Amino acid sequence: MIIFKKASDLKNYLQNQRQKQVSTGFVPTMGALHEGHLSLIRNSKRENDLSVCSIFVNPTQFNDPSDFEKYPITIEEDIYALETTSCDILFLPDVEEVYPNGTNQVKQYNFGYLDKILEGEFRPGHFQGVCMVVERLLELVQPTRLYLGQKDFQQCMVIKKLAELMQCKAEIKVCPTLREADGLAMSSRNKRLSSEDRAKAVTIYQTLLFLKDNIDKGALSDLKKLATKKLKQNGFRPDYVEIVDPKTLKPLNEWDSRQGAVGLIAAYLNEVRLIDNMVLCE
Ligand code: PAJ
Repeated sequence: MIIFKKASDLKNYLQNQRQKQVSTGFVPTMGALHEGHLSLIRNSKRENDLSVCSIFVNPTQFNDPSDFEKYPITIEEDIYALETTSCDILFLPDVEEVYPNGTNQVKQYNFGYLDKILEGEFRPGHFQGVCMVVERLLELVQPTRLYLGQKDFQQCMVIKKLAELMQCKAEIKVCPTLREADGLAMSSRNKRLSSEDRAKAVTIYQTLLFLKDNIDKGALSDLKKLATKKLKQNGFRPDYVEIVDPKTLKPLNEWDSRQGAVGLIAAYLNEVRLIDNMVLCE
């Protein structure tokens, strides 16, 4: 695996590869890699000549400074995991390489309501920061395919919108959420859970299953209330429990069997914020 730290070196190398008609798959990450991240690399390996992963803990997407400070960093293990997965290229920049003009010049993208609801409501500015870094990375890598995890359902929709605004030609591939044996969605933040909270964390997954099993049994508002209660009883502080239309992300008030639905949950266990989602109906 080649490790690039300088944006210009990565750009030149990939420009050369493109001239040789080499296809490139790109997996942007913030590191503390787990099997979920590695599944994206494996998908990229299957479908492209060259696979590029980036590791960069992006300061502009953290609305909570303590979340940024406590974000797990495990770079040596990450490099080992990427080598083992036969990733071809790792981009490991520092802040100056990603943001040569500093991080204060915040760009404003117009995503309409898409970045204002759910995560956007509880993490103001989060998606603007995500898109600042993703735009920069897409310009540098210019991949044939971009790999994202369904674990961050809203992020996938926002990045698709960004790609449209940028007229980016990359094909966007949304890959399934990888889970621990008990159903907890793999996440870098799981490393911060105490063993007691790790045992409780599976309630998010169980609550999503509860939504799925009961979506046809009465008013959605009652179902969401019951789900919220279930989370609170297990020691969570929920930010939201929502059921949305997967095409638009608009909250559903009513549901009928002809309609697709996705359940989304964000909730704190002590100071660790976890998110997860599940397709409730195709
Ligand atoms: P990060 O949280 O490191 O996630 C990197 C990618 O891995 C994202 O596309 C995410 O959806 C995917 N991923 C995370 N957990 C997963 C799981 N359990 N199964 C499958 N895929 C999973 O998302 C970010 O970083 C950042 O916002 C980023 C896009 C890199 C911009 O900074």
